[in-house]
Amino acid sequence: MREGSSPPPSSELVVVLDFGAQYSQLIARRIRECHVYSEILPYFTPLEELQRRAPAAIVLSGGPDSVYAQEAPSCDPRLLEAGIPVLGICYGMQLMSKLLGGEVAASSRREYGKTELQVLDGESILTGLNPQLVCWMSHGDAVVAPPPGFTTLARTANTPVAAMADRQRRLYGVQFHPEVVHTPWGREVFRNFLFGECGLEGRWTMESFVGQAVEQVRAQVGEAKVICGLSGGVDSCTAAALVHRAIGDQLHCIFVDHGLLRQGEGEQVVRTFREHFGVPLIHAQVEDRFLDRLAGVTDPEQKRIIVGQEFIAVFEEQARALGKVEFLVQGTLYPDVIESGTATAATIKTHHNVGGLPEQMQLRLVEPFRYLFKDEVRRVAEELGLPTQIVWRHPFPGPGLAIRILGEVTRERLCLLREADAIVVEEIQRAGLYRKIWQAFAVLAPIRSVGVMGDQRTYQHALILRAVESEDAMTAHWSPIPYEVLERISSRVTNEVQGINRLVYDITSKPPATIEWE
Ligand code: XMP
Repeated sequence: MREGSSPPPSSELVVVLDFGAQYSQLIARRIRECHVYSEILPYFTPLEELQRRAPAAIVLSGGPDSVYAQEAPSCDPRLLEAGIPVLGICYGMQLMSKLLGGEVAASSRREYGKTELQVLDGESILTGLNPQLVCWMSHGDAVVAPPPGFTTLARTANTPVAAMADRQRRLYGVQFHPEVVHTPWGREVFRNFLFGECGLEGRWTMESFVGQAVEQVRAQVGEAKVICGLSGGVDSCTAAALVHRAIGDQLHCIFVDHGLLRQGEGEQVVRTFREHFGVPLIHAQVEDRFLDRLAGVTDPEQKRIIVGQEFIAVFEEQARALGKVEFLVQGTLYPDVIESGTATAATIKTHHNVGGLPEQMQLRLVEPFRYLFKDEVRRVAEELGLPTQIVWRHPFPGPGLAIRILGEVTRERLCLLREADAIVVEEIQRAGLYRKIWQAFAVLAPIRSVGVMGDQRTYQHALILRAVESEDAMTAHWSPIPYEVLERISSRVTNEVQGINRLVYDITSKPPATIEWE
């Protein structure tokens, strides 16, 4: 059960109105990187709702439509007269132009990718920039005449108005995308807008976030008993650590140890929370229960369902044993909230380990990170003193090693995989690649192959090495791990793990493959 959205964690709020851009999240991140808190809201958010939040500025994002298309998304035109500074990016700039009497037309030549930009007037949002720059464009339409009152600040060969400003009304527009890395000086545009034009101070920091989040959790839960399911991943661990700082022993953590974790992971969770933080922790060691149910199962979806169901069953049993619990802590992140619809963020993602629990148990949710991105949670984790291994741990699927053992999950295969996976992680860390790589892990193939060791023929398991680079797991590229590192991993795995005589490296990206094999 989600409660009404809590107040934003900073007095300086910049709202990004989302018109369906690929890059809305990037805009919010860039603004936060300037230490100004930013949130994304759908373009149809009523003006009154926006004003209630008292934003210090608004950014209109890009979007896939043409402003002249039927049913093209628009905002309340009064927004541009409300005295709030507004920056329009791409579609946002075109919309601003259309609403204020400028002229937008289909460009004779579309611009995609890197484009030369000529600064005509190096002031306002373009203050301090070189006269000739390379920016990143992605548009079909363009503003051909700015609205009355606006000055044209920059142009390109095909776009006569690539940046514009009406400083009197504090309205600004850029046709290029300052939020993407391919516009390397884009950060300066945001800084000029936020600090130069809007007069913001940029005081939003992780320390201030932690302090405010602690206060909010206290206010939300009062004296009630709260539970949190720990998975060992950074999100749930950090959420637990933060809530514990807020309410101490009112928080009870439940760690469902299904025996499908990576080597040493379970012990570390218990050590960190029970010994280091002193959190009341239930460590449910239920490996047998999971392995019994997984016996003979080879279908990946079936495995997922079994692990999910059993997980909920164990969690629920443990929670009931605790007596009257009113709140459930979840490490939900901002991208999850946005994905499920900012305006109607009621769905709990099924891939969450405890999905379904809040409804069944009538628990209310405590989600201290529902406004944060993953890298921001890592900074909170460091701020709270979580161990580096947890802070920087690679993402790990809820069904755990069950979906990295292709075919049947048995104790013997789990042991083999855990041992081999630990070597992979160790060597990737030793090579200094761990933080660069999104996920690196081992997969146990359901095949054996012939080998030779000493003078003996062997017939043993094959191991697949998987390592990918990614921003958000939606797409991923296989990681070009240096040959020497691959060689060390191969040599160590085949020498040290009895039962594996062959290692292959998966060089498929996502798409067409997925990150996991199952
Ligand atoms: P795929 O394999 O779909 O994975 O490319 C994308 C990301 O999601 C993780 N993953 C899961 N996480 N439950 C989870 O909590 C799952 O069932 C699951 N399947 C995949 C995967 O590790 C990667 O980070």
